[in-house]
Amino acid sequence: INELGIKIPVALHLDHGGSFEDCKNAIDAGFTSVMIDASKYEIDENIKITKSVVNYAGDEITVEAEVGHVGGQEDDVIGDIHYASVEDSVKIVNSTGIFMLAPALGSVHGPYKGDPKLNFERMAEINNLLKTPLVLHGGTGIYDEQIKTSIQCGIAKININTDLQLVWTESVRKFLEEDKKEYDPRKVIGSGEVSLKNKVKEKLILTESANKA
Ligand code: 13P
Repeated sequence: INELGIKIPVALHLDHGGSFEDCKNAIDAGFTSVMIDASKYEIDENIKITKSVVNYAGDEITVEAEVGHVGGQEDDVIGDIHYASVEDSVKIVNSTGIFMLAPALGSVHGPYKGDPKLNFERMAEINNLLKTPLVLHGGTGIYDEQIKTSIQCGIAKININTDLQLVWTESVRKFLEEDKKEYDPRKVIGSGEVSLKNKVKEKLILTESANKA
C-alpha cells in the first residue's frame, strides 16, 4: 500500500538465479518470481535446467529464462554479448512454458563501451512468433529512443540497476563531502533516497509504466 493508500501489486523477483537450487531457495523463501539464468550452457542444457525450475515453481510463481547472453559486468562477472537466435527463443518457450523470456539482443549489464547495438528486427520477429512477454536486461545506458523502440518490439519488462546505483552513490558521496561530521549510517544511506526515487520515477515515465499497476 503506497503513501496515497493505493494498493500496488509488487513482485519479489530473483534476478539471474544461477542454478535450480538458487531458484528453489528463493521460491521456498517466499519470492513470487524467479529468473533462471542458464544461458552459459548450450540450448538443450539451458532448457533442461529451466524446465526443472518451471516444474518446481508451479502455477503461482512466474519464471523468466535467458537465451543468448547479455554481455558486460554484473557482480564481478564479466561476459561477452551473444545474440539470441529466433530458433532458440521459440524452442525454450515452447518446451518449458516459461512466463517471460529474456533474449539477449545486444544489451550489456553496466556501462556500454560505445553505442548499444540492439537487434530490433529480431526482437520484433521473436515477439511476433511468441505470446510470451520479453525482457530487456542491461537497461542502463540504452538511449531513451531505443527503450521506446524496444517496447514497440515486444519488450514488457526492463531491468535497470546501474543507473540507480550511480545516482544513489553520487548523492551519498556529496552528502559525506558536505558534512564531514555525520556518522549515523541511517542518515548516510538515507541521503541517497530522494535521488534514487526520482530516477525510478523518471524511468517509470520513460517506459510508460506510470499509473499502470
Ligand atoms: P544494468 O545494471 O546495466 O542496468 O542491468 C541491470 C540488469 O539487467 C539486471 O539483470
